[in-house]
Amino acid sequence: MSSELIHRNQTRDQSENQIEDSPSSPRLENSHPKTRNMLNRAPFLFIGIAIATLFFHYLPSRSTLPQNLNLDDSSLIETDLALPTRRVLLEERQERRQRVPLSVGLKSKKNKRVLVTGGAGFVGSHLVDRLIERGDNVIVIDNYFTGRKENVIHHIGNPNFELIRHDVVEPILLEVDQIYHLACPASPVHYKFNPTNVVGTLNMLGLAKRVGARFLLTSTSEVYGDPLQHPQAETYWGNVNPIGVRSCYDEGKRVAETLAMDYHRGAGIEVRIARIFNTYGPRMCLDDGRVVSNFVAQALRKDPLTVYGDGKQTRSFQYVSDLVEGLMRLMEGEHVGPFNLGNPGEFTMLELAQVVQETIDPNAKIEFRPNTEDDPHKRKPDISKAKELLGWQPSVSLRQGLPLMVSDFRLRLFGDSKINGDKGASAE
Ligand SMILES: NC(=O)c1ccc[n+]([C@@H]2O[C@H](COP(=O)([O-])OP(=O)(O)OC[C@H]3O[C@@H](n4cnc5c(N)ncnc54)[C@H](O)[C@@H]3O)[C@@H](O)[C@H]2O)c1
Repeated sequence: MSSELIHRNQTRDQSENQIEDSPSSPRLENSHPKTRNMLNRAPFLFIGIAIATLFFHYLPSRSTLPQNLNLDDSSLIETDLALPTRRVLLEERQERRQRVPLSVGLKSKKNKRVLVTGGAGFVGSHLVDRLIERGDNVIVIDNYFTGRKENVIHHIGNPNFELIRHDVVEPILLEVDQIYHLACPASPVHYKFNPTNVVGTLNMLGLAKRVGARFLLTSTSEVYGDPLQHPQAETYWGNVNPIGVRSCYDEGKRVAETLAMDYHRGAGIEVRIARIFNTYGPRMCLDDGRVVSNFVAQALRKDPLTVYGDGKQTRSFQYVSDLVEGLMRLMEGEHVGPFNLGNPGEFTMLELAQVVQETIDPNAKIEFRPNTEDDPHKRKPDISKAKELLGWQPSVSLRQGLPLMVSDFRLRLFGDSKINGDKGASAE
């Protein structure tokens, strides 16, 4: 050991002597030993500076971080997964931004760019009206399976409005800030033919992830199935038959909610979930098997009102403008949900038939038919959560809303031959 040390010292002395003796370093020869030491270390110093410069150059600066990610938020620090997960998310989002460049100035615009899937349908078209009225740029994608161009035709030509024929079971790339995902046939007559819920929702969540958009899912009270709890609060997990004729819709929406929450937790997507209860109003599909549109169309055509079962099963009916208000509050608010959006006023089918008789034709007959499989016995939303956190509650009663729907149906059935019930033509 000691001989090794002696050997090293000797080697160093020799090399120092070599430098001192070297003819190519005349200045070193005369300089102070401290200065000589510093000059010897200078190359290492330069290399260090170069590495530090490179490091700080490539470190993400605060201005390139996603706008909706608050780094000062103490909750990020508190969570176990906060730092590594956020870091990965930051990198993913930066990568995304590089892959999908947003239009210049888009994020700084006051008005949002909003995608409404299923925007040519009943609820979607009313939502589009409100968004356009607010000054947003609205893109509608719809495959017209149950929707109609006529529902949004009044916006065509407006530079803030775009209509794209597209099936959400196929991916699509659009630059948007918010996605209202409504595309899905909502009536029993139609949904049995179309597995839109799962694949369509997956694609739209993928889009939300890619462009960093906020995503709102229009789920349904059907997630409660034939409920064993009444009224239904969001905490109730439901009683759904997984293999029945309605399951593709009920279970499909349940899967859609699961996917939304997984994207929220796993990929940091901002999601909002609305559980919509029976909604009615102008532009509903004629003859689509939904009870309000059925009764209204039957009464106007002087057909008997068909009541399934004994007519004592209950439902709650919300006017479409109330729903649209709830959806927009949910999207703009800070709460993920799920939120029940429905009118807590509860009617039996027979009571509803009576209101339709009063509104349209007091002489309309009622015809009883055998009930359909898995028809829920009771349905009534508990909307305390929406009242408290969204400051929302419906304001239009059935007796106020029904006449508005009747005049629209009357026009479509008897008034204007172009729109008159020709589903094949209007689906174009
Ligand atoms: N209206 C209600 O009472 C009610 C209740 C609960 C939930 N919801 C939900 O609200 C949403 C809208 O319902 P609605 O009553 O307006 O129904 P709707 O049938 O009038 O509208 C659905 C729209 O989606 C379109 N669509 C269907 N499949 C599509 C696909 N694969 N790709 C692109 N577009 C497609 C249809 O053409 C239609 O325009 C649905 O998701 C529905 O499940 C509605």
